[in-house]
Amino acid sequence: MRPMLVFSLLIGVASSRFFMDRAPTSFFANGTLSCQLKKPWCFNVQMYEDDFSFKFANDVVASYGTRCTRFEKHQYELTGNQFGDGLWNDDYEINISITHNCTISGKKRRFRRVPQIVAVETPRVDIFLGVLDVTDLGKDFVEHYV
Ligand SMILES: *[C@@H]1O[C@H](CO)[C@@H](O)[C@H](O)[C@H]1NC(C)=O
Ligand SMILES: *[C@@H]1O[C@H](CO)[C@@H](O)[C@H](O)[C@H]1NC(C)=O
Ligand SMILES: *[C@@H]1O[C@H](CO)[C@@H](O)[C@H](O)[C@H]1NC(C)=O
Repeated sequence: MRPMLVFSLLIGVASSRFFMDRAPTSFFANGTLSCQLKKPWCFNVQMYEDDFSFKFANDVVASYGTRCTRFEKHQYELTGNQFGDGLWNDDYEINISITHNCTISGKKRRFRRVPQIVAVETPRVDIFLGVLDVTDLGKDFVEHYV
């Protein structure tokens, strides 16, 4: 099914909106993470765009970068742009991934938030995630922050 769809895209592409409307959507997200362990801790926050139809298209829209702090709370802010690559559907799934070592074991954990599904025509998306206590939060153990 899918190779057939891709093939018909290739021959029909001149008339498709793939080339017609490529206005970007700009994304902004911010929030505050907190850690109750009273120790230095590190984290990274990344924003992904999942395309519903093409599962290999899993783009990092923005990355805050790895930060370390000895304070209980740390703010973060992400900005990025994404061009409409949803060829067969009209939605983005915006997915925020947080990796941190505010863990009792000291191992890095990761968890995800999927706060929004956004139509590709949306010019701007603001996501305010508020304050999140990450202490020992996350089911995935990972080796790296990115
Ligand atoms: C997030 O951004 C909004 C709008 O600029 C601002 O009012 C809010 O204080 C920010 N929150 C954090 C945690 O930085
Ligand atoms: C969020 O992004 C991650 C990392 O790319 C991905 O594995 C996951 O399937 C995405 N979607 C959800 C719903 O978590
Ligand atoms: C997190 O990692 C940093 C850098 O490696 C380390 O200094 C800190 O002690 C770690 N924090 C915890 C709670 O394991």
